[in-house]
Amino acid sequence: MTNNIHPIFDKILQKDDKEKLLNQKGIVVWMTGLSGSGKSTLARAFENELHAKGILTKILDGDNLRSGINNNLGFSAEDRSENIRRSAEVSKLFLNAGIVTICSLISPTNEIRNLARSIIGAENFYEVFVNCPFEECAKRDVKGLYQKALNGEIKNFTGLNAPFDEPENPFLEVRTHQNDLETCKNQMLTALLPKIVFSK
Ligand code: ADX
Repeated sequence: MTNNIHPIFDKILQKDDKEKLLNQKGIVVWMTGLSGSGKSTLARAFENELHAKGILTKILDGDNLRSGINNNLGFSAEDRSENIRRSAEVSKLFLNAGIVTICSLISPTNEIRNLARSIIGAENFYEVFVNCPFEECAKRDVKGLYQKALNGEIKNFTGLNAPFDEPENPFLEVRTHQNDLETCKNQMLTALLPKIVFSK
C-alpha cells in the first residue's frame, strides 16, 4: 500500500458467517423519494414487520444521520453526494454484519444512487422508489418545509429548485399517494422477503 493503510477485510469474519449465525441474508433496502413522500414511515412499518418475524434490521434515516455522522453537511449537490457516500459506507458495515439495512434518504439523482450502489455492491442493493408527486408532498407538508421552501426560505429544496430524478429502473416502486401504508408495506414485504429469508 502506498498510503500506509493496511485493510484486513479478508481476515475478519465475513458476511456469510454472520448470515449463518442470524439465519438471514443481509441486504440493503435503499428507499429514495421526495421529502415527505413517506419513506421514513414506510421504513418503520417495514422494519417492525421484519422484526416481528425474527429478522435483525437497522434503519438508517437521512434526518437521523444528518444529526450525527453527517451533521456538517448541507444540501448543495456536493454535500448531498458526500451525505450519500458516508451513508452508503455505513450501510455497508451493517450489511457485512448480515443485517437487513433499510436506508431512507432522498438520494435525489441517478448519479448519487449509482454511487450508493457501487459502494454497497449491486448484488446487495435493492432500490425502492417511494413515489409521491411534489404537489401531494407539498399538500401533506408534515414538517412545514414545503411552505418555507415555496416562500423562498429554503434554498436547494428537492423538487423545487434542486433536482429529483425519478429512478430509471428501481427494484420496486410504491405509490404512497395511491395506496395506503399497509398496502405499500405489503408490496415491500412480498418483493423483499424472498431476498432475506434462506430458501428451504
Ligand atoms: S439527501 O438529498 O442528501 O439524500 P436527506 O435524505 O439526507 O437528503 O435529508 C432530507 C431531509 O432533510 C428532508 O426530509 C428534510 O427534512 C430535510 N431538508 C432540509 N433542507 C432540505 C432541502 N433543501 N431539500 C430537501 N430536504 C431538506
